[in-house]
Amino acid sequence: MIGRARAQAHPNLALVKYWGNRDDSLRLPANASVSINLDGLLTTTEVEWHGEDGTTDSLHLNGALQSGEALARVVRHLNALRERLHVRGRAVVHSENNFPTGTGIASSASAFAALTSAFCAAVGVAVDERTQTTLARLGSGSAARSIPSGFVEWHAGDTHEESFAESIAAPDHWDLVDVIAIVSTQHKAVGSSVGHPSAQTSPFQAARVQTAPARLVECIGALMTRDFAALAEVVERDSTLMHAVMMTSRPPLFYWLPPTLAIMAAVREWRADGLRVCTTLDAGANVHCVCVSADAEEVRNRLAVQSGVVAVRSAPIGGATHVQPLTTISD
Ligand code: PMV
Repeated sequence: MIGRARAQAHPNLALVKYWGNRDDSLRLPANASVSINLDGLLTTTEVEWHGEDGTTDSLHLNGALQSGEALARVVRHLNALRERLHVRGRAVVHSENNFPTGTGIASSASAFAALTSAFCAAVGVAVDERTQTTLARLGSGSAARSIPSGFVEWHAGDTHEESFAESIAAPDHWDLVDVIAIVSTQHKAVGSSVGHPSAQTSPFQAARVQTAPARLVECIGALMTRDFAALAEVVERDSTLMHAVMMTSRPPLFYWLPPTLAIMAAVREWRADGLRVCTTLDAGANVHCVCVSADAEEVRNRLAVQSGVVAVRSAPIGGATHVQPLTTISD
């Protein structure tokens, strides 16, 4: 039996962050999080499934056959999918990003969301959206948030089934824009998979996790009422708390570079001037400048003259995974 399916997914930007797991193997997060999907940035993944035919998977990324850790991580995820969906066989995976790798824009969320979605369709097992989010989470925690559409909440949960993501508002609920200031194109030295297990070595992690539910309520409240001032305050506070944990973990993780701090300071000034913009950072030096669309062009222009900023990309929020029609499963 051969099945083939293609799926697409966007990366997402967390407004209340996920950092650290209560269970590393299941990627049950220490706290719930909320994100927006990033339109314009897209991973497209095709899975060709050879049922009952060996277990040697292959992976092509942007046309290049992969080996080593990139392949090993995908094979681990395919093993988890095979086990949970009770299917046997091997997968030939072709995956492409429309955004250049090496820009420092994290792609694991869109990669594992698209892979999970394409896999489910290729093996011909009907999997509802909630279950797909739990399966995607096994590959990369934040991938759970790239399955549902628009504004998304990922519930922490105590079990595999309870740790799922769901849409809390449609993409057009609020026309926010993420202007990404690319200050470093370096591949991050320490990725999040290595970083999560070290979160608990910071004495600040317990306090961050304990106060995360309150920030989640504040953030969702600000999103629902489209209150930008309230959103900016909680988004910046949450990002700084996560980076405080990272910096005080053992070994410490310092992602901020001098231009990162310069942009964060400039954005605070611009906000005081009346621009509706705030900053948030993931596990890297690039600065996500979240703003209302009316102010996005001005933010982009001001970032362009900011020294050290190599490139700026603008990405309004958009829908999440879109599965293209299956080719028929044949003998
Ligand atoms: O899903 P991961 O393992 O790539 O972790 C994502 C971690 C952050 O991007 C730093 C925060 C988040 O919630 O996306």
